[in-house]
Formats: sequence, structure tokens, C-alpha cells
Amino acid sequence: MSTPDLTVDVVTIFPDYLVPLGQSLLGRAIERGQVRLGVHDLRQWTEDVHRTVDDTPYGGGPGMVMLPEPWGRALDTLAPPDGPRQPRLIIPTPTGRRFSQRVAAELAVEPWLMFACGRYEGIDARVAEYAADRMTVDEISLGDYVLCGGEVAVLAIMEAVARLIPGVLGNPLSAEQDSFTDATGGLLEAPAYTKPAVWRGRPVPEVLLSGHHARIDAWRAEQSRSRSAERRPDLL
Ligand code: 6GU
Repeated sequence: MSTPDLTVDVVTIFPDYLVPLGQSLLGRAIERGQVRLGVHDLRQWTEDVHRTVDDTPYGGGPGMVMLPEPWGRALDTLAPPDGPRQPRLIIPTPTGRRFSQRVAAELAVEPWLMFACGRYEGIDARVAEYAADRMTVDEISLGDYVLCGGEVAVLAIMEAVARLIPGVLGNPLSAEQDSFTDATGGLLEAPAYTKPAVWRGRPVPEVLLSGHHARIDAWRAEQSRSRSAERRPDLL
């Protein structure tokens, strides 16, 4: 089989959380050999009988911090320091830079993505420093709320990335017309309708049935603007 376009490795203490990654859009790309997916249990890189991955924080405070050594071994095993290439390492964390369509597009051109899923109060900060000596490290947040760990963020990030990879998405044009891309000027997409033309007394906006493509484009542009003004004024 030829080399895949994309390799994705995920390190987590909850490998089952990542099962959906092997399904749907990405699953079909894996079957075609376009994408190679590895999900790895961090605990295989522990060496005590309890397979400990966390400890109390220096300086005090609530919660637990993930120990650096299992992460160091995971990185050295999956991406040896003297290897011919290195992955881009993504650490999902509420303290990261905000994920966006722009970041998804950045990640979609990378040949190798590795995700380090933290739990508890995060991963000892020296792990990101250690990795950054040989690979690009991105700490990424989905938004201003706190999840229990990075696993759900990996699912979200990979779904956004996968559909931007040529040949992974069924219809390449629909990615171009998404909300937040240049086709909508960075605004939200207009509402969409399908058959029937009247449903439970509610007609589809008449312009969409007119066949006048210039008028339809103008209507959609106006809907994008008003919808964004109402729901996402920060985008205007
Ligand atoms: Cl990427 N991780 C966690 N644990 N919480 C989050 C997040 C990520 N993004 C928003 N909240």
C-alpha cells in the first residue's frame, strides 16, 4: 500500500473515547489507505504496578497533574528524537489558542498530527517544552468552557480537519462554501431549504424558486449578513 496522505496518532488514558475517529468520513479514508490512525493508551508507558499517570501539583491547589515521564516515553516511542521526521503535536487544553476554521486549514496540510490528551488539571508543563525542542507544538482550545479532557476536542478538531483533506470529503465544493470560509466573507452561511416547497404551511423563500442566480446570490449574501449581525456580531 502507498504511504498515507496523513498519519494521526492520539495518546490518551481513554482510548475508547476515540473509537468514533475510525468511523464516518475518516473511517472511509482509513479504509482507502489515505489516512493511518493510531490510538495509544498512555498507561503502557507507566512503569509502576498501579500504572500511575498523575500526581499532586507542586505549589498546591486542587486536582491532579499528569506526570511528565509517561508522556516523555510516549513521545520518544512514537516519534523518536533522531527520527527522519517529526509530527506536529497538538495538546488540547482550555488554556490553548482558540481553534478555528483557519487553524483547521493549517492542520489539514500537515502529513503527521499527534494529539496528547490531558486529563485532570493538565499535563506537567515541561512536556510541551520538551517536545518543542524537536517538533511544532500547538496548545489548542475549542472555546471558553472547560471539558474533562482533550479527547472530545480531538474528535472535533479531526472532524474539521478531515473534511478539508482533498479526497476525504465527498463534495469538495461544499467545504469551500462553509460558514467562516472566504465564500461567505467569513460570515455565517444563509439558511438552507429543500423539498417540499411548502411544508406544514411554511413556504420556502420565493427567491430560491425563481431560478435567478444573481438574485439568489444577493439574497444569500443579505441573509449571511443579517444572521451574523444577530448571532455573531464579532464576525462583522
Ligand atoms: Cl481543547 N480541552 C479541555 N479539557 N477543555 C476545553 C478545551 C480543550 N477546549 C475548551 N475547553
